[in-house]
Amino acid sequence: MTSRLEERLEELKASVSDEMHAQIRQAAQKILSGELVGFPTETVYGLGGNALDAGAAAKIYAAKGRPSDNPLIIHVCDIKMAESVVELNWRARFLMDRFWPGPLSLVLKAKDTVPLVTRGGLDTAAIRMPDNAIALELIRGAGVPIAAPSANRSGRPSPTDAATVRDDIGDAVAMVLDGGPARVGLESTVLDVSGGSPVLLRPGGISKEEIEEALQMPVLLPTDGSSLKHSPGTRYRHYAPKIPLVMTDDPGGAEAVDKKWAWIGTSEPTGSPVIKIIFKDTEEYAKELFRVLRLIEKSGAEIIIAQRPDESGIGLALKDRLARASGI
Ligand code: TXA
Ligand code: MG
Repeated sequence: MTSRLEERLEELKASVSDEMHAQIRQAAQKILSGELVGFPTETVYGLGGNALDAGAAAKIYAAKGRPSDNPLIIHVCDIKMAESVVELNWRARFLMDRFWPGPLSLVLKAKDTVPLVTRGGLDTAAIRMPDNAIALELIRGAGVPIAAPSANRSGRPSPTDAATVRDDIGDAVAMVLDGGPARVGLESTVLDVSGGSPVLLRPGGISKEEIEEALQMPVLLPTDGSSLKHSPGTRYRHYAPKIPLVMTDDPGGAEAVDKKWAWIGTSEPTGSPVIKIIFKDTEEYAKELFRVLRLIEKSGAEIIIAQRPDESGIGLALKDRLARASGI
């Protein structure tokens, strides 16, 4: 019997053109020779290097200007590769079977094969299988797991298309594979399943509710008193647009602002923003957020007023990114 995962992998493999295959082969060679490659995933674009090569991992931190204690996510193309870098347990296998390929990164005990620099000095590592044909073929072609943070300079919004990767970090990569706009637009969920209760370290493309429903148990947040776990990445300010951003519940509240303001949300604002972007629903708001933040920076607006999303589904991840962009 072929599993859902195998079927999805076959389907994705069939969707890559011959020309793209040729580019992927070239990119895989670059990865094996210790260089970095920009590549698409279903969430955001990644800045990839050989996860087993400490030198390549060090290049990633340098290119992003990222603190060395903030670990990288390791991308794999099959379960065997996952087993080569972390200790799997039943919960991890269950969630992989249910949500991979997809936007769920699992934090597990790392094996010694993973250099300390890749995992930011921790004894755990985060792994995920992206739901993107180009990404999976790249990993398969290289034959090694690929460490990849989002392909932006540290502190900037994550890139959701190839042109933004070239703009932000083009000089650090040997090449960028162009897979078109990212489908999800926000990064993966990071879930610690290394022991005890699962802890949601970063909300993302797979919702807390979906994970709780699959596991039939509550998922803790790092803020729950009982949990000591946290993600190093959450200590740093992220997703900062170049102008201030504030979140509001009240589409009329923006009228009081005495600066040129931009509006983003799912409702019409009252008053006269210099630019307004109204999304059709929370999914679209999440998918387009990073692109829109970069667009608004160039619009002459002096402040961004963002409507607070409701917290269900992808809304929790969206609210998290807006809060970080606002510097809370
Ligand atoms: O969707 C995504 O996850 C994208 C694409 C490219 O796959 N990648 C991404 O990577 O967002 P990055 O480096 O921007 O975010 C990785 C997050 C950070 O918050 C980091 O602290 C956390 O994952 N992380 C990685 N390894 C960890 C570990 N062993 N324990 C706790 N948190 C970890
Ligand atoms: Mg990032």
